[in-house]
Amino acid sequence: MMSFVPAKALIVYGIMGDLAKKKIIPALYQLASRGVLTVPVIGVDRPSVATDATREPLENISEWRKGERDEAAYREFLSKITVIFGDMAGSAVYSEIDRHLDSDAFAVHYLAVPPKLFSVVADGLASSGLSRRSRLVVEKPFGHDQASARELNRCLLRHFPEDRLRRVDHYLGKESVQDILTFRFANSLLEPLWNRSHIASVQITMAESFGVEGRGSFYDSVGTIRDVLQNHLLQVLAYLTMEPPAESSAEALRAEKPRVLRSVRALSSADVVLGQYSGYQSVPGVDPKSRTETYAAVRLWIDNWRWSDVPFTVRAGKRLASTTTEIAVEFHQPPRMLFLSPDAGRPAANVIRFRLQPNPSILFDLQAKAPGRAVATSPVRVSVDLTEALGPTEHPYERILSDAVSGDPRTFARQDTVEEAWRIVDPILNSPIIPDEYRPNSWGPVAAESLTRSGRWLPISTEAVGG
Ligand code: BG6
Repeated sequence: MMSFVPAKALIVYGIMGDLAKKKIIPALYQLASRGVLTVPVIGVDRPSVATDATREPLENISEWRKGERDEAAYREFLSKITVIFGDMAGSAVYSEIDRHLDSDAFAVHYLAVPPKLFSVVADGLASSGLSRRSRLVVEKPFGHDQASARELNRCLLRHFPEDRLRRVDHYLGKESVQDILTFRFANSLLEPLWNRSHIASVQITMAESFGVEGRGSFYDSVGTIRDVLQNHLLQVLAYLTMEPPAESSAEALRAEKPRVLRSVRALSSADVVLGQYSGYQSVPGVDPKSRTETYAAVRLWIDNWRWSDVPFTVRAGKRLASTTTEIAVEFHQPPRMLFLSPDAGRPAANVIRFRLQPNPSILFDLQAKAPGRAVATSPVRVSVDLTEALGPTEHPYERILSDAVSGDPRTFARQDTVEEAWRIVDPILNSPIIPDEYRPNSWGPVAAESLTRSGRWLPISTEAVGG
């Protein structure tokens, strides 16, 4: 079993950036307050962000829980972060970092910077000699198609072998995503049913009710498929469909994901519906004639013995009617029950849902006898809110950052998984499909219904309560 070197220092590149402000610094603070983060933190950013106002650079950068947080403790935590401003393409910044590290200390370098800087920093770490005692962590996006992801891997792997390289997909840090595996493999009532003989279809929805304001120019160059489908949602699909790992190591777990993804057919335009919400083109930073999708629905087929002929429909979009990420696993419909009333139809199919967020929950849609003399079935829902039942969970960035420091690779995406995921979506990237316009606060283009097995999306659990 591989063992991983814990880092003695954490260096965050892009410490003044948006991701650091919103996710990384708050997560580090939480880890430090719980005593989980004990190593020194060094922040790095471009000299152009070092102005007078940033003499105490981190003082004002985070609005996170302002008003509720323990201000004194928060400020004390920030004051302990050493901030270095320098050109990441030069050599001075790496010498400066080195000066702050104990000699020979193994460090983790976390790149929360635009992807064009990934190989620049990797090269800088190599020229300074730091790469030999470092782990490199890169944020998404990892490439913009399969060829660029391969090229990026090639550049990074020149200086960092795979066991010292980590690719962030923060969905892997979510407890609710990890729970897919636990729920599947810790409940022996499920695993015998988890295949094409019992499951008719699977639907995955990642709906967000907000738009792309504040990041229009980034989003317009990316679109939904690259932003969340190729990474977060294909990782979720892999957890949902992979075989049980052969043993307990992180590598055994990580080996199963590319195996199942290799059986997923590459997408063709017949399996895709794209959408764009009305008003998107007027968002600052967005091309007024943009054809970038803000919604994508795809139908995937997994050509293996477990899943052959089971449609997996996956949809994701901005400005939809809800902010909910949910998986619905639909079982085959039972036959007519001859002892029921002669006019009773076939009972509805069972559905098991994993609501990943908000309020992570497991929900079973079952059938029971409807009260009364007529013998008929009525749907009932058995559900558990996992936070209510088991208590709160840590934020995904807390998990990602503490794994980055400890070295545990479980919550990071491996090279082969990333490349397989690009292979699946590659044929529809830059496709000539013109996105259908959809109304904000709706469920996206109606045409996407046709991708599903029964011609309609199952209502997500928050909708279904009212019918
Ligand atoms: C990011 C995407 O990776 O994930 C965003 O760039 C998306 O567009 C976000 O909103 C969703 O993450 P979460 O954790 O809020 O579901």
